Amino acid sequence: MALNKLVAGNWKMHGVAADLEQVEAIAAASRSLAAVEVALCLPLTLIERAVRAVPGLAIGAQDVHFAEKGAHTGNASAAMLRDAGASLTIVGHSERRQAHRESDAEVKAKAEAALAAGLGVILCVGESLAVREAGGAVDTVDAQLQASLPAGIGDPMDFSVAYEPIWAIGTGKAASPDDIGEMHAAVRQRLVTAYGDAGNRVRILYGGSVKASNSVEIFALANVDGALVGGASLSVADFLPIVEAAAAAAAAG
Ligand code: 13P
Repeated sequence: MALNKLVAGNWKMHGVAADLEQVEAIAAASRSLAAVEVALCLPLTLIERAVRAVPGLAIGAQDVHFAEKGAHTGNASAAMLRDAGASLTIVGHSERRQAHRESDAEVKAKAEAALAAGLGVILCVGESLAVREAGGAVDTVDAQLQASLPAGIGDPMDFSVAYEPIWAIGTGKAASPDDIGEMHAAVRQRLVTAYGDAGNRVRILYGGSVKASNSVEIFALANVDGALVGGASLSVADFLPIVEAAAAAAAAG
């Protein structure tokens, strides 16, 4: 079954007020495209201003704390993100798993807290280069999923898994179509095992050096229901061709 594609930008630690013009331009250019949803996961400091500037565009966060409130200096809860106008959040990005030592159990708790508060979730998984070269990529990602998938997902359209091989992030070198196809099939199998038929309606995004030049090929693959885009999401010039490729792939069924 073909799902509407989701193309989400992850701005990471980029963007100040002057960059809201890119958010506005991305919203304006993607508004008329059918069968593709666009979201931008912005720095916390820009979320509320972006929501005000472009009420029609899905604006997300890049992380969330699993607790409802409390003594967690520097963190934001799901309710706070909702209050700022966010409609989704990334959890478990490899940059957080590595730099902040986030465990699968923590990622699961974050996903569950976000969904319970009414935020959509993009849950990231992905293997290191050493694991890929040792032939353990599928087993490693499957183990990550088993330990970090939330217990329940509600509406499957509010929950996505992003496969982001760590070695492909920010390197300009995306995974090969064969590797993406193999991994996304394994992710689909795990989602169906976890959630039954609803697992067929969870979108599986690919992330890692997605750009205009490789997006057509990637979106044509089975079980690729969209992309999580880092560097190329920062400007409308780089991002729009990717969104258009997703819309064309969705239209082609
Ligand atoms: P790049 O698209 O810059 O490789 O980043 C991918 C990513 O980490 C998105 O979350």
